[in-house]
Amino acid sequence: MDEFKRGAEESGHKVEVLDVCHMNINPCIGCIQCGYEGPCVQKDDTVIVKDKLLSSDVLVFATPTYFSTMNGMLKNLIDRFLPKWQDLGKHDVYFIITGHDGKRGLELVEKELITVFENLGNTVMGTIWGEGVWQKGEVMNTKAMLEAYKAGKNI
Ligand SMILES: Cc1cc2nc3c(=O)[nH]c(=O)nc-3n(C[C@H](O)[C@H](O)[C@H](O)COP(=O)(O)O)c2cc1C
Repeated sequence: MDEFKRGAEESGHKVEVLDVCHMNINPCIGCIQCGYEGPCVQKDDTVIVKDKLLSSDVLVFATPTYFSTMNGMLKNLIDRFLPKWQDLGKHDVYFIITGHDGKRGLELVEKELITVFENLGNTVMGTIWGEGVWQKGEVMNTKAMLEAYKAGKNI
C-alpha cells in the first residue's frame, strides 16, 4: 500500500491510507434496522471509512489471503456497506492481495472482490499480486512492490 501511495503521490494525487484492522469496525448484525437506507444502529468507525470512500475517486483495498478468502476485517467492512450501498459505486478500484499460495490461489480472493465491487457499480482497474509470501513484511522483497508503485503512478 505504501508503494501504491508513493506512486500516486508522485503523480500529484492526494492519498489517504486507512488501516481498518486497527479501527473499530464491528460486524454487521443483520438487524436491517437501517432499512438499507441508513443510518446503521452501530456507532463505530465505519462512518469515518464510508465518508472517506465517498469523497475519493480511486479506492485500493489490500488484504492477505486467509483460508482462500479475504481477511475478516475487510469482510466486516464490506458487510457494513449495506446501508446506502448504492452510493459506493462509480469508483475506480484496485486490489492488493497477498498470500503464500501462487497467483492461482490468490485469484479466488480477487474473484470475490471483483464480484462485490462490480456489483456495487465500480470499475475494477487491476490487482497487485503478492504471491508466495507467508511472513509479515516478506512482500517487501517481491516484485509486488514495483507493481504497486507503477499502478499508483498510472492512476
Ligand atoms: C489464518 C491464516 C490463514 C491463511 N490462509 C492462507 C491461504 O488460504 N492461502 C494463502 O495463500 N495464504 C494463507 N495465509 C498466509 C497469509 O496470506 C500471509 O501470511 C500473508 O499474506 C502475509 O502477508 P501480510 O504481511 O500482508 O500479512 C494464511 C495466513 C493466516 C494467518
